[in-house]
Parts: sequence; C-alpha cells; structure tokens
Amino acid sequence: MTATIPPLPPALARHLPDPALEAILAHIRRAEEEFAATVAGTTSRGTPYTFGGVRREIAEGLYALVREIRPRRLVETGVCNGASTAVLLTALERNGEGQLDSLDFPEYTDTPYAPGTFWEGKLGAAVPRGKSPGWLVPTPLRRRWRLHLGRSQELLGDLLQGLGSIDFFLHDSEHSYQCQSFEYRLAWQYLRPGGVLASDDISWTPAFAEFAARVGRTPVHLHRKVAYLVK
Ligand SMILES: C[S@@+](CC[C@H](N)C(=O)[O-])C[C@H]1O[C@@H](n2cnc3c(N)ncnc32)[C@H](O)[C@@H]1O
Repeated sequence: MTATIPPLPPALARHLPDPALEAILAHIRRAEEEFAATVAGTTSRGTPYTFGGVRREIAEGLYALVREIRPRRLVETGVCNGASTAVLLTALERNGEGQLDSLDFPEYTDTPYAPGTFWEGKLGAAVPRGKSPGWLVPTPLRRRWRLHLGRSQELLGDLLQGLGSIDFFLHDSEHSYQCQSFEYRLAWQYLRPGGVLASDDISWTPAFAEFAARVGRTPVHLHRKVAYLVK
C-alpha cells in the first residue's frame, strides 16, 4: 500500500518549478551516482552504506518553504554528503540573503568505530572515507554556510546560544526519540515568533507529534515524513 503524499500548500507550490533547484538536483544526482559507483559495504552495525540525501519531493518542499519565508538565520542538523544543505543554500542564493549553520556528527565509510559511537537505530547514511561532510556542496554556495562537527547533543546548545535567535530550523540528524525531542525543544526556544521548525523523518518516533501538541501547533506537511511548525 502506498501512503498518500499531500500536495504542497499553494503559497509554496508557486515557487516551483525553478531552474536553480533543477540544477542543484541534477548536481546531487551526479554526486549520488559517484557514491554508488565508489562505495560498497556495511557499517559495523551491519546496515548497508547509503547516500542518505533528501529525495526530490522533500527537496522541492524545503526549497519552496525557504523561498517563501525568506529566513535570515537557519540551522540544520544532519549534513552527511550535503543534499539538504545544498538545497537550502540554493534557496538562500535565490533569496539573496540568509546564513546557514549546519551541524553533523558524520559516519565515514570503511572506518572502525567503537560500539555505541552512533545510536543503535542509525541506518547506513555515510560520508565516503577521504571526503568531508557536505562534500557535494558547490563552492559558490559555501559563502552562506558554516559547518560544525560533533554530536547535536553536545554542540547544538552552544551554537544556538551564539546565534541568539533563528528564523528556521531543520532536524535531519539522529532520529532517536530522545534526540528529536531534545532538538525540537531547544530549537523552539531560540526560534523567533513566526519562525519555522521543520523536521525530516517525523514518523520514526512520536516525538514530532508530541512536540506539536505540546506547543499547540498544527503540523504542515511537505511530504508524508516531513512537516513543519510555525512558532
Ligand atoms: C540522514 S543523514 C542527513 C542527510 C542530509 N540531511 C541530506 O539530505 O543529505 C543524518 C546525518 O546525521 C548524522 N548524525 C547521526 N547522529 C548524530 C548526532 N547525534 N548529532 C549530529 N549528527 C548526527 C549522521 O552521521 C548523518 O551524517
């Protein structure tokens, strides 16, 4: 059975299609092909390595959302090879404003890790050994980007405190109930009124639905597994 994907809200759909988005999606597709051609094997947890990037429909939703709300300060958790990062930065370039701070605790392929380094539910999203997180992000897009490496649980608080207030937050890092709940709660504190908290993989745990109820907001879906709340 296939789940129904709700259409994008009209205010967002009006930003699509867009040649800049199509160009970065083509670039991401080539990076994914390179990944597939050069990476094989599994993590030490036994899960096959994957590229792990956001799919086209999710990229379209995120791109249109950033085009519509024109955030100035954005924070993203979960970079890996850089698909969502490149999409967000492309939208910022088209907006002509905005700065993205991304946080990632990367897993590299063919690298031994002590048990417990990553949460037990993590699948195989990985960065090819020898490359850096976000390696696919084209150089011209990097002028609006800062990358912070480490666990969200350890870095996100200081990062948000340093920024003071943010307009947009995207969760796509550790999809455990604890980490999702932690990131939503913390990001919400720093989100300005009217700002947007978005999350990928909302169906992995009840954390997003619970958080939405707790703050009294109705989720707007960009995709069946991606939604956002407006503060
Ligand atoms: C699904 S991937 C992100 C995909 C990315 N958003 C994209 O579209 O290409 C999740 C990333 O979060 C990282 N990660 C896992 N646990 C983390 C944690 N506790 N804090 C920060 N990042 C984490 C993973 O290693 C991986 O790089």
